[in-house]
Amino acid sequence: MLVAIWAQDENGLIGKDDQLPWHLPDDLQFFKKMTQNNTIVMGRKTFEGLGKRLLPNRQTIVLTSNKEYDGNGALVMNSIEEVLEYANQFEGITFIAGGGEIYKQFLPHYDVLYRTLIRAEFDGDAFFPYLDWEEWNIVSTSEGTVDEKNHYPHDFETYQRNTVNSVNN
Ligand SMILES: NC(=O)c1ccc[n+]([C@@H]2O[C@H](COP(=O)([O-])OP(=O)(O)OC[C@H]3O[C@@H](n4cnc5c(N)ncnc54)[C@H](OP(=O)(O)O)[C@@H]3O)[C@@H](O)[C@H]2O)c1
Repeated sequence: MLVAIWAQDENGLIGKDDQLPWHLPDDLQFFKKMTQNNTIVMGRKTFEGLGKRLLPNRQTIVLTSNKEYDGNGALVMNSIEEVLEYANQFEGITFIAGGGEIYKQFLPHYDVLYRTLIRAEFDGDAFFPYLDWEEWNIVSTSEGTVDEKNHYPHDFETYQRNTVNSVNN
């Protein structure tokens, strides 16, 4: 199963200077909880934005065109086909975890979307790609925690592909 997981602001912004534009530990906790014991796939820029750090208890795959790339312990793959083949064989969930370039190329393949919608506007340079929301049904939403560490209201949303539209298209 292939799942996109991302956080965006009200304008679809997801990144700034290879980092997240906001500080929202509640969303990082959500990411950690959902991806535990599964696989996360990220582009080389996102991986380097994290300082090439590997998150514990999950497999990390880094996508790059560089065949000699040092993944610092992550699995390095050079094409989306390679990732799709991996996801087909993997019994757990393969999470596509950004950034913008990577989300875009996997758009036709997602089974489920986990979107954190942050009710605020930020400046930045990376956006989630255009998505035809008609193809997706929201199946759950829950409000994130707002407190002294988490300043921005945010919702955790889950979408499933609308099978009627997928069959017709
Ligand atoms: N808000 C969120 O949920 C979230 C999540 C993740 C990331 N982000 C943000 O997104 C931003 C980065 O996004 P981005 O679009 O600039 O970069 P990116 O998607 O992280 O990485 C792009 C790189 O991935 C590699 N790549 C892309 N397509 C490939 C393919 N088909 N085959 C092999 N390699 C491929 C290339 O690496 P090479 O140049 O090495 O070939 C490319 O330069 C950062 O600001 C980050 O913080 C936000």
